[in-house]
Amino acid sequence: MRILSIVGARPQFVKLAPVADAFATAGVEHLIVHTGQHYDSRMSDVFFAELAIPEPDVHLGVGSGSHGVQTGAMLSALDGVLDEHRPDWVLVYGDTNSTVAGALAAVKLHLPVAHLEAGLRSFNRRMPEEHNRVLTDHAADLLLAPTQVAVGHLAAEGLAARTVLVGDVMTDVCFRVRDAVLARPHPLPAAVEQAGAHLVATIHRADNTDDPDRLAAIVAALADLPLPVLLLAHPRLAARAAEFGISLQTGSIVPAPPLPYPAMVSAVVRSRGVVTDSGGLQKEAYLLGVPCTTLRTETEWVETLKGGWNVLDPELTQVRSVAARPAPTTDRGSPYGDGRSAHRVAETLAAGLAPR
Ligand code: UD1
Repeated sequence: MRILSIVGARPQFVKLAPVADAFATAGVEHLIVHTGQHYDSRMSDVFFAELAIPEPDVHLGVGSGSHGVQTGAMLSALDGVLDEHRPDWVLVYGDTNSTVAGALAAVKLHLPVAHLEAGLRSFNRRMPEEHNRVLTDHAADLLLAPTQVAVGHLAAEGLAARTVLVGDVMTDVCFRVRDAVLARPHPLPAAVEQAGAHLVATIHRADNTDDPDRLAAIVAALADLPLPVLLLAHPRLAARAAEFGISLQTGSIVPAPPLPYPAMVSAVVRSRGVVTDSGGLQKEAYLLGVPCTTLRTETEWVETLKGGWNVLDPELTQVRSVAARPAPTTDRGSPYGDGRSAHRVAETLAAGLAPR
């Protein structure tokens, strides 16, 4: 069996790590195509190196651009690659422009497509990711759902027959890395290390970064928090802040470049709380038992809200009072699987569940 994975953005490299591992164990022929959506070494190479992911077999080098330009460039570059390799499965991950481009290119060539992390919904149609998810789910032949809630969304859209609940592969990688970093913590910047307690923050969504007033309000809220805030700045955040003349080096904020995955898990597991607009980080905080405050109107990972582990604060009215709240005592259960989801992905693909 030959499987061709299409990835391009940081969260996809994290998901790819346990999947590539499971494919290697199962003896699957696995090709990796990197679209080049993320190209800074801190957003890409370092994830391959530190998570021991095999080098991509093909790199499309597409880079940044408007959504249409970026997605279109991927589509036109993928045709030849897919035609050359004719895999038994094309596997696409998550909800980025690389996901929808991969799914669309493959179905047009009548290649079976599986979507990993299918069925997530924010129901916020302003988000480019929401369109990417819905379009990919409806194009794909096999929907690998991470949670029971995702299975329910797919059933409500008439997609139950193509759906398999496999669990969340991010749990696999998060638990594996957590165990390693608990044994050997990664150092934090001196200002954070010396304080003895800290928060971790990330902000990268266009709705939060691209309006100067909104971004200034978020930076002011973070600056006002009662503990040092390690702000891991996505390139878009750094660029917009510079453009709008907003200094990230203010108040409690300790700005730093994005971290590789193990260093990020280490920073979070040692933190008192996370403030973010990232989907992945909300869930990592939950898996690691760290309270999270999410600066968005909704979350796809609704399980994290139960028991107050994750609190939504789009209006920034609660951040100051809740960001450093104590961890709830409620049991989190394991809505994101048991850490063996990637093996179920490999088994499900091998079972050839392509109903078309
Ligand atoms: C993408 C995903 C988002 C995911 C995020 C993780 C889409 C629509 N969005 O958003 O779901 O949460 O990745 O990080 O696919 N840039 C660089 N260097 C890079 C990559 C990006 O400088 O290596 C800058 C460029 O200015 C670029 C901007 O960041 O225009 C945005 O990058 P893009 O890939 O378009 O979207 P993300 O915001 O990263």
